Amino acid sequence: MKATAIAHPDIAFIKYWGKADPKLRIPQNNSLSMILSEPYSLCTVEFSNRYKKDEIVFLNEKEVKKEELKRISRVLDRVRKLAGSTLKAKVMTKNSFPKGVGLASSGSGLSSVTLASVKALGIQMNQKDLSRLARLASGTATRCVCDGFVEWIKGEDDKTSYARQIFTPNYWEIRDVIAIVSADMKKIKSTKGHSLAKTSPFYEIRLREVEKRLKDIKMAIKERNFSKFGHIIEEECFSMHAICLTSRPSILYWNALTVEIMRKIRLWRANKEMEAFFTIDAGPTVHIICEGKNSRKLVNKLKGIKGIQRLSVNKPALGVRAIKKHLF
Ligand code: DP6
Repeated sequence: MKATAIAHPDIAFIKYWGKADPKLRIPQNNSLSMILSEPYSLCTVEFSNRYKKDEIVFLNEKEVKKEELKRISRVLDRVRKLAGSTLKAKVMTKNSFPKGVGLASSGSGLSSVTLASVKALGIQMNQKDLSRLARLASGTATRCVCDGFVEWIKGEDDKTSYARQIFTPNYWEIRDVIAIVSADMKKIKSTKGHSLAKTSPFYEIRLREVEKRLKDIKMAIKERNFSKFGHIIEEECFSMHAICLTSRPSILYWNALTVEIMRKIRLWRANKEMEAFFTIDAGPTVHIICEGKNSRKLVNKLKGIKGIQRLSVNKPALGVRAIKKHLF
C-alpha cells in the first residue's frame, strides 16, 4: 500500500498559456516541452487504516501554501475514487530545487504524487490515462508523465486532452542550461496568469500564430536543425510574455538579471561566439538552450555574468516513474 515516484520538471518550447476549461485544465493550444534531467521531485504515498486523516508532509520547505495541500488532497480523492477505496494516506514529498522561480515545480511535484498514489492503491493505468489524471492536478504535470520531447494535445474534453512523447530523450543532444537568478517565490502564480491571458488584446493573435510555430518546431526537432529551432523558441517565449505584459492587470515575470542574460545570449550569437537561445516560463529563471557539444563553453560564459545564483545543465530526460526507495 506504499509507493514512491520520481519526476522531473520540463521546459516548454511551445507554451501552455490560457485555459479553455479551467476546471478540467483543457488548454487553449497544444504545447511542447522537454523533460529536464537535473531537478526532480520525489513522492512517497502510503494508504493505510492506521491514518485517520490524510497527512501531507513537505520535506525541506520553509513555506507550504494551503493551495498546494489542497491540490494534493484532490489527487488522493480522485485516485481513491478510481480504486473504490476509503483509506486515508500519508504523503511525503521533496523537491531538489526552489519552488516558484519558473521551474515547473508543480509539474514534477504533482505528476510524482499522481503516480505514487495510483501505484500505492494498485491501480493499473496506461501512460495516456496517467497523463489525463495528472492534468487535473496541474497543466505541466500532464507532460511530465512522458519521456524526452513531449507534446500535450489540447483535445476538447477530459478524454481527449493528454500528452505523448514525440521524440525519445536521446533523439537529440541538446542541453538546457538553467540560470536561477532569484530564489524568491514569484508573485503571480501561473494559474492566475492563465486566467488573465484572455484579457490581453493580443491573445487571439497568439492563438492563431502558435499553431504554425508548433508545426515548424516539430519539423526543426525532427531535422535536428538547431538554428531554426532556436529562433522559434525565442519567438514563442516573447509571444507568451507579450500576453503577460499586456494582460489586465499586467504581469512582468522578469527581473534585471533576466534581461541582462537575454541580451548577452543575443550578443554572443551576433558575434558568433556561441549559438544559444533562451526561453522563460512564468518566473525570472532563464533557460538557455545549446547543443550538447557547447554546454561547457556556455556554462563558462554564463559564470562571467554577476548575480546568477545557480547554473544547472540538463539533458532531455525520462518522465515520471516508480522507484523502490521510499521517503518514509
Ligand atoms: C508558463 O502548469 O503551472 O510554465 O495548470 O494552473 O497548474 P496550472 O499551471 P502551470 O502552467 C505553466 C505555464 C508555463 C508554460 C508551460 O509550461 O507550458
